[in-house]
Amino acid sequence: MTARPEKRRFFVTTALPYANGHFHIGHIMEYIQADIWVRMQRMHGHEVHFVGADDAHGAPIMIAAEKAGKTPQQFVADIAAGRAQYLDGFHIKFDNWHSTDGPENHELAQSIYLGLKANGLISTKTIEQFFDPEKNMFLPDRFIKGECPKCGAKDQYGDSCESCGAVYAPTELKNPYSALSGATPVLRSSEHYFFKLSDPRCLEFLENWTSEPGRLQPEVLNKIKEWFAKDEHGHGGLGDWDISRDAPYFGIEIPDAPGKYFYVWLDAPIGYLASLKNHFAKGQAANHWHPESRTTQSYDEFVADPAVEQVHFIGKDITYFHTLFWPAMLHFSGRKTPTQVNVHGFITVNGGEKMSKSRGTGIDPLRYLSLGLNPEWLRYYLAAKLNSRVEDVDFNPDDFVARVNSDLIGKYINIASRAAGFMAKRFAGRLGAISPDGEALLDSLQQAVPGIAELLAEREYGKAIRETMALADRVNEYVDQNKPWELAKQPGMDARLHDVCTTCIECFRVLTALLKPVLPALAAQVEAFLRCPPLTYANATTPLGAGHTIGVYQHLMQRVDVKLLEALFEPPATPEPDQPAPGGEPIAETISIDDFAKVDLRIARIEACEPVEGSTKLLRLTLDVGEGRTRNVFSGIASMYKPEDLVGKLTVMVANLAPRKMKFGVSEGMVLAASHADEKAHPGIYVLHPWPGAQPGMRIH
Ligand code: 2FM
Ligand code: ZN
Repeated sequence: MTARPEKRRFFVTTALPYANGHFHIGHIMEYIQADIWVRMQRMHGHEVHFVGADDAHGAPIMIAAEKAGKTPQQFVADIAAGRAQYLDGFHIKFDNWHSTDGPENHELAQSIYLGLKANGLISTKTIEQFFDPEKNMFLPDRFIKGECPKCGAKDQYGDSCESCGAVYAPTELKNPYSALSGATPVLRSSEHYFFKLSDPRCLEFLENWTSEPGRLQPEVLNKIKEWFAKDEHGHGGLGDWDISRDAPYFGIEIPDAPGKYFYVWLDAPIGYLASLKNHFAKGQAANHWHPESRTTQSYDEFVADPAVEQVHFIGKDITYFHTLFWPAMLHFSGRKTPTQVNVHGFITVNGGEKMSKSRGTGIDPLRYLSLGLNPEWLRYYLAAKLNSRVEDVDFNPDDFVARVNSDLIGKYINIASRAAGFMAKRFAGRLGAISPDGEALLDSLQQAVPGIAELLAEREYGKAIRETMALADRVNEYVDQNKPWELAKQPGMDARLHDVCTTCIECFRVLTALLKPVLPALAAQVEAFLRCPPLTYANATTPLGAGHTIGVYQHLMQRVDVKLLEALFEPPATPEPDQPAPGGEPIAETISIDDFAKVDLRIARIEACEPVEGSTKLLRLTLDVGEGRTRNVFSGIASMYKPEDLVGKLTVMVANLAPRKMKFGVSEGMVLAASHADEKAHPGIYVLHPWPGAQPGMRIH
C-alpha cells in the first residue's frame, strides 16, 4: 500500500434522489451518514468536495409531470426548490446541489457513451416490447398491469407479483393493460442500444476492480461474486445492459440516434460528475468557505489527479448500478473509477417494521423539524446505530429517548453544566492550572482522539460514539470523586475547585471535538462558549491552557420531550367530512388570488422582545424583515410566550398593513398568530413559525 498523503483530496457523493418526491427519512439517514464522514475529513484538514443532485430523468417523472400539468423541467425544479429546508434543517452541508438535467450532464453522458462506443462496447438489437397505442409510447414495466401468470392475482405490475412474489417478463402477464390509459398494450419492436457488459474485458476489469482491498464491504463483494457466476448451463453472469429508451422520454438524447434517449440509470451516476463540474464552474471550489477545501484547479485537472479519492454513499438496493455499471462506464470511457463505494442498509422502525406513513410508523423529516425536535438528536441517534456493514438501522423511540437523554445530555452536556457555573461565579471564567490527576484524565482523552477519528473514517460510528461516551463516563467519575459542589463550600479549597473545573472544561472540549462531525451546530455553540477557534483533530489535543477566559455558559441542549416523540408517530389526521366549523368559525368567503396578493406576508426575525408596561396582553417585538431597518410591532401574545423565548425566532408578519397608533406607541405591522374563535372556552394563541430554511424578508405566496 502506498502511504497516504498528509492532505488528502476527496470527491464525495450520496445517491441522487429521484426528483418526483420529497426526501424521506431514508434519504436523510444516508445524507447524515455521508455528512458526518465529510465533516470528519475536514477536521483532519483534508480537501473535500461533497456534492448531490436531483435525479431528474425517466418515464415515471415524465408521467408524474404530465399528471401535474407541468413540463418535466418545471416539475423537477419545483421539487428541487423544496430540498434546502430538509438539508439545512438537519445540518447536511453539500457543497453543491445540481440536476442530472443540467447541461454538464448532457455533455458528460454523451461523451462517456461515445467513449464506450469507440471502445467497441456498444451494440444494438431489435427487441419487442409493450406499446400503449393510445399514449403512443412504449410502456415501462411498472406501467403495465395485468393478471399474474403464476397465481392469477389481478392488477399486478409487469415485473413481479405482490401476491405470490413471482418474477416474470411483462409479456407473460394475462390480460395486460396500460396503467396510463387502460388500453390493451400491443407488442412492437424497436432498436435498442446496449452496453456490452458480457464482453470479456468488462468481466476481467470488474473482477479486479471489485476485489481491490478497501473498495467494497466484504458482504457486498460476496454478493457481486454471485452476480458474476454462471450456472452449469452457462447462464447468468454479466449480461449486456439496455441503455436506450424510445421517445417520448425525459432524458438525454443518444448521439446519432434520432428518437433514442439514454435510460435514466445511464445518466444518473454521471450526474455525480456533472454536479462536481458545476461546483467547480461556479468557482465554489476555489472560493469555498472551507479553507482546507480551496483549490485553484479546474474540474478537468481535479478529476484527472490520481490522488483524488472518489467516495460514494449508497443504499443496498442500488449496489448493482454502482459496483458494476458505473465503474465499467467510467473505466471504458477512459476515466478514473471510484475509490470506494459505501453501502448502507435501510431504516426501519420498532424492530424491523418497514416505515409506513399510513400506519403512522413513518418518520416524516419535516414533521420532525416542525415539531421542534432537535435535528442533532437524530444525527446523534443515527450515528450511535450506524456501522460499516450493510445492516438495516432500526429507529426505536424508547431507545432514541434513552440515548439522547441519558448519554448525550446526561453524560456529555452534563460535564459542562457541572463545571461552568463555578468557573463563571468563582473564577470570572479564567481557566486555572491542572494537577496531575486531572492531567492524566485529560491526557487519556487526548490519546483517544486519533483512534476515535479513525473509527469515524471506517464508518464505525456506533463504536466511535460508544468510546466517546465511555470517556465522558470517566470525566463524570472524576467529578463525582471530587465533588465540586462540596469543594465550593469548603474554605481554603478554591484552588482545588478551580483545578477540577478547569479539568472538566478542557475534557469537555476534547469530547466536543470527538462529537463535532455528528453535532456540528452544538460544537459551534461550544466553540463560542469556550472562545476557542473551530475545533480540529490537530488543535483538540492542545489544551486551552491556564489563563484562557471562557464565555458565559448557556444551556446547550434540551432533553427529548417524550410527548413530542409520540406526536411524531401519530398517524396523520384525516379530516372528517361535515365537521363543525373549524376553529369555531366558518371559513370566510372565497377571494381571488389577486385579493390574496394584496396582503404582503413576510418572514420576520424577532430581534428583540419585551413586556409592555401597563399591558398584560401585549408584547413589544422588534422585527427584521430584511429591509435594512427594524420594525416595532405590538402583539397580544403575552399570555402564551415569555419574551426571551421569542428572541432570535422567525415568524410571519403582514408587512404592508397601515401603521397603527396605539396607546403604547406605533405598531408597524402585524404578527400572524392562530386562536380559537371562542377564546374563553379555548384559550391560547399560537404564533406562526416557518420551517427551517426561511430567511427574513422572504415573501409568503
Ligand atoms: O434509487 C434512486 O433513488 C436513484 N435515483 C439513485 C440514483 S444514484 C445515482 F446513480 F445517481
Ligand atoms: Zn402471483
